[in-house]
Amino acid sequence: MKKFGLIGYPLSHSFSKKYFTEKFLKMGLSDHQYDLYPIEQAEMLQEILDNNPEIRGINVTIPHKIAVIPLLSRVDDSAKGVGAVNVIKVERDSNGMPILIGYNSDVYGFRESLKPLLKPHHKKALILGTGGASKAVEYALKELNIEYRFVSREGDINKLIYSELDEATLNEYTVIVNCSPLGTYPNVESCPAIPYEFLTSNHLLFDLVYNPEETLFMKKGKEHGAAVKNGLEMLHLQAERAWAIWNG
Ligand SMILES: NC(=O)c1ccc[n+]([C@@H]2O[C@H](COP(=O)([O-])OP(=O)(O)OC[C@H]3O[C@@H](n4cnc5c(N)ncnc54)[C@H](OP(=O)(O)O)[C@@H]3O)[C@@H](O)[C@H]2O)c1
Repeated sequence: MKKFGLIGYPLSHSFSKKYFTEKFLKMGLSDHQYDLYPIEQAEMLQEILDNNPEIRGINVTIPHKIAVIPLLSRVDDSAKGVGAVNVIKVERDSNGMPILIGYNSDVYGFRESLKPLLKPHHKKALILGTGGASKAVEYALKELNIEYRFVSREGDINKLIYSELDEATLNEYTVIVNCSPLGTYPNVESCPAIPYEFLTSNHLLFDLVYNPEETLFMKKGKEHGAAVKNGLEMLHLQAERAWAIWNG
């Protein structure tokens, strides 16, 4: 048996469990299993690994993406850069002790999902929201040589606030990435407070939200001719990246 799973708390509904369970079924991998491990403290990962020596890979979600880092043997560059781990590869040494290697597959997922839409004039981006996902987006934009500014409800010297965004800002920053949960079902009538009237066909709006398929942020962008994309492909790409890491 090869086991995989997700740690986080609470774990109510899980995209990863459904995705990997269906994948194993499709691939005929009847000796593969994906389980949920709702743990309140990241340190409880050790107990899970002790009780399940067949575990090969773990996904990590809120609130443990940062707290797991000190428990790992190694962390790859992108996870180090982001400061958060969402994928752990589990290897065993000759004594059967776990060797845990941390990765961040959101960086890959976002970068590869954004790339096909990028045009030469897309040189600067606004990142809306400053939570965990925004850090992966930041790292990916750096890799793509796209300058960026964060937009937050609370500004400081490094961050804009929404009320500061005007026509000049939107002319300069033609990529806008929603890293806030605004617009997620059932709150589909909400969207980030940017001045949509200044959007043009030069703009590219990427929403990390994937439910609903078209968020209000995307709808308003489209109304002004902007290119738009939701976070579904990113979600699938990060899962496939995790699969490649576990099998690499
Ligand atoms: N597609 C994918 O593969 C993928 C991957 C990861 C995450 N996501 C989605 O991305 C979104 C963000 O994830 P996250 O983990 O970073 O969430 P998070 O840690 O909760 O952070 C979201 C950020 O959004 C801003 N925000 C929160 N509530 C807001 C409100 N009412 N109005 C305006 N801004 C608000 C906050 O930034 P400020 O305090 O600075 O304003 C907050 O730090 C979620 O919807 C998540 O489902 C998608």
